[in-house]
Amino acid sequence: MSENLIITNVEGGILTLTINRPKQLNALNSEVIATLSGLVEDAQSSDEVKVIVLTGAGEKAFIAGADIKEFAEFSPQQGKDLAALGQATLFDRVERSSKPVIAAVNGFALGGGLELAMAAHIRIASVNAKLGLPEVSLGVIPGYGGTQRLAQLVGKGKAMEMVLTGGMISALEAANLGLVNKVVEPQALMETVHGMAKMMMRNAPTALGAAIKSVIAGYTDGVDGYSVEVEEFGQCFGTEDFKEGTTAFLERRHAKFPGK
Ligand code: CAA
Repeated sequence: MSENLIITNVEGGILTLTINRPKQLNALNSEVIATLSGLVEDAQSSDEVKVIVLTGAGEKAFIAGADIKEFAEFSPQQGKDLAALGQATLFDRVERSSKPVIAAVNGFALGGGLELAMAAHIRIASVNAKLGLPEVSLGVIPGYGGTQRLAQLVGKGKAMEMVLTGGMISALEAANLGLVNKVVEPQALMETVHGMAKMMMRNAPTALGAAIKSVIAGYTDGVDGYSVEVEEFGQCFGTEDFKEGTTAFLERRHAKFPGK
């Protein structure tokens, strides 16, 4: 059953993971979270996968949030466990993926859905997408990192407005705020996502991983991003990718990165 919950497809180095509960607007239940988490983990060591794309099945929703039916009867402790487990197993894992993760936001990205898109490194949205954190309308708050990552992406003032009103914004508004990187027509969404993935794949995989780690370090409590950058910069000099990248430049040819 679980393999149908997430449709996986690897083509030309791009792993597409499609959350497949269209009738429930791809709401994230614990089975989806566990399956997705395992697939993102497996992708880290797969030679076939260079970039990961997350999207939702159907034309209506990317993901309309955590599955409300699943947690409606939860106690405070169960609520806390739900958020902690989800953050640790999926959302933080996506953010810390050494391979770039792009969210192809093909419709509603609400609550946990927007939180998953925000954990990705890049968000590309179709023009009909609607984004928001409506949790307060249910008497709860975002629990999968939304209060933190939204403020990082759009600033504290706008994040407060979105979290406290619980309102949805359009893809174009989201682009103006820096919440999504690009907005395109629905039929151009996957092509645009693949175009960006291909640009990334021309670069050294080890450098991509080091760059992600360094950027994320600046948003991690107790970690000095500049020191992590210095360390990661230095580590790059020991990679085969670096040798190939610099040699290819000096020989005026395209680099063929071994990914080591
Ligand atoms: N959880 C469970 N089921 C959901 C869902 C969710 N988050 N979102 C939608 N669905 C289900 C609906 O219950 C409905 O199922 P039935 O046909 O069995 O009744 C089906 O998906 C279709 O949804 P609607 O009929 O509501 O579709 P609509 O077009 O009228 O409205 C919508 C679309 C505005 C997105 C609306 O579905 C909606 O508001 N969904 C909930 C959004 C939300 O509050 N998300 C936050 C969840 S809490 C969270 O994410 C917590 C966290 O941070 C950890």
